[in-house]
Parts: sequence; C-alpha cells; structure tokens
Amino acid sequence: MSFVTTEQMLKAADAAGYAVGAFNVENMEMVMAVIKAAEEMSAPAILQTTPSTIKYAGLPLYYANVKAAAKLAKVPIALHLDHGNSFSLAMQALRVGYTSIMIDGSHEEFAENILLTRSVAEACAPSGIPVEAELGKVGGKEDDLDCNDPGYTDPDDAERFVKETGISSLAVAIGTAHGIYKGEPKLDVERLSEIRKRVDIPLVLHGASGVPDEAVRECIRRGISKVNFATELRIAYSNGVKQFLKDNPEAFDPKKYGTLAMEYVTRTVKEKITVCGSAGKA
Ligand code: 13P
Repeated sequence: MSFVTTEQMLKAADAAGYAVGAFNVENMEMVMAVIKAAEEMSAPAILQTTPSTIKYAGLPLYYANVKAAAKLAKVPIALHLDHGNSFSLAMQALRVGYTSIMIDGSHEEFAENILLTRSVAEACAPSGIPVEAELGKVGGKEDDLDCNDPGYTDPDDAERFVKETGISSLAVAIGTAHGIYKGEPKLDVERLSEIRKRVDIPLVLHGASGVPDEAVRECIRRGISKVNFATELRIAYSNGVKQFLKDNPEAFDPKKYGTLAMEYVTRTVKEKITVCGSAGKA
C-alpha cells in the first residue's frame, strides 16, 4: 500500500485519541512479522531501527527491506530512525530514504540539545521528513546508551524546546525506562498532562516494554500518540527460536525456526496494537 512519513499518522492519532505503535526491528523476519500483525489488525505501523541495529546490517538494507514490504502491505508503514545519535547519522538516514527521523540530544545540556535538534529539523524540512526529539532522559539501557541518571521532562522546558527547534513530535521522560524493569514502573502522568497543555505536537512514549497495559492506556488518554516497543519484540523473537530448537534439536534450516519466531513477534505486536487502540485505524 503505502510507505509514508509519520507526520499524518501521528496527527491523526493525536486528533482521535489513540497511539501508533512503533516497533524496533532487527532483521527481515521481524519486519515481516510486524507488518503481518499490522495488516491483520488494520493498523498503521512504524518500524524503527536504532544506531546499533544500523551498525549490524546498514541503513540501505533496512530501508530496502521495509520499503519493499511496505509496498506490498495493505496498511500504511513508516520507517523511523530511532535514537539517532548524531547529525551525520540523521542525514544518512534521510538520504537513504527513511520516512521519519529521531535525533536524540537528550544527553546534552538543554542549549546543546536545542542546537543539535534544530539543525536536524531544518535539514529534514525541505524533504518533508518529520523529526522526533527527546527532552529529559529516559532511563535504562537502549543500544550503547546506558542511562543511570534519568531526568523527567520539565513542562516549561518542553514548551520552549518545541518552539525553538521546529520538531514534529516530542519524546518525554515521565518514568519509563528502556529494557527490562526490575519492579513496576511508576509513571508521572500528571507531568504528562502538564506537558500536553503546553505542547501541541504529538508526544512519544519510549521504553514501553514491561509497562502494564493500563498504564500505557492512561498515557495515551493523557496525550501520547506514539508508543515505542523494542525489548518485548526481541524477547518474543528469541523465545520463538529457542522454543523451536528445543523441540527440534536437529533442526538446521533458518526458515523453520524463523517461522516460529515470526509467529511469536506477530502475536506480541498484535497485543501492543490493541493496547495502543490503533486497530482498524489504517
Ligand atoms: P523498550 O525496549 O523498553 O520497549 O523501549 C523501546 C524504545 O523506547 C525504543 O526507542
């Protein structure tokens, strides 16, 4: 069907009070599994790759893979750079054809984050490619970034940041963390509502693996319109491979264990689409 930017997807979600699921993919099987789930649920979907994923196979392969799959898909699909960690990587993704870019300057001081983010937003604007940025620090470990010092997004700073950078969506830090939680995360949803009052672009929730469904729903009710899931998909994929090889220790054909791994990922993504409320919104 269509290979689209995240701009319209997120604006539609924001206006109608649901969220679009953004799913980190690592290989062709995960691309296929996520798109299958989106088609079965008639949901728009964002597929995204982090810098370490890009290091694994390169931007052109992920682009070609997702573009080809999106053209065949019955639902709108976007390809997003997740946690772009430099101006240079953001520009490479833009040139290759990614339809959405995140620049993550959240580990810089406020003023540096503004400068870096604005430079990427300005460079992407002529091509109509939307830019997501992060303010505050989401905790946990994502990629090579290990954040032991999370900091919540300040609503006043968020208002200024959005005005001064020209971004299309804002990732907020309200108590979620990347990776696996040790206990149940406590989310500062009042802070999210404050940010929502001051900022009129779509808001993004990172670190959603392991967050209870009801907590994700509450965040969507309070203004989140993109929810990122990575760890739970990696676990689902690996569990599928492990299960198949446990049941069939003699197996050696990647298509065999890949098929079960894809089924596990598709099931997980369908559950997340249900939580996001994006089923039937394609
Ligand atoms: P999780 O790994 O916690 O799902 O976080 C995903 C994410 O926010 C990717 O940017």
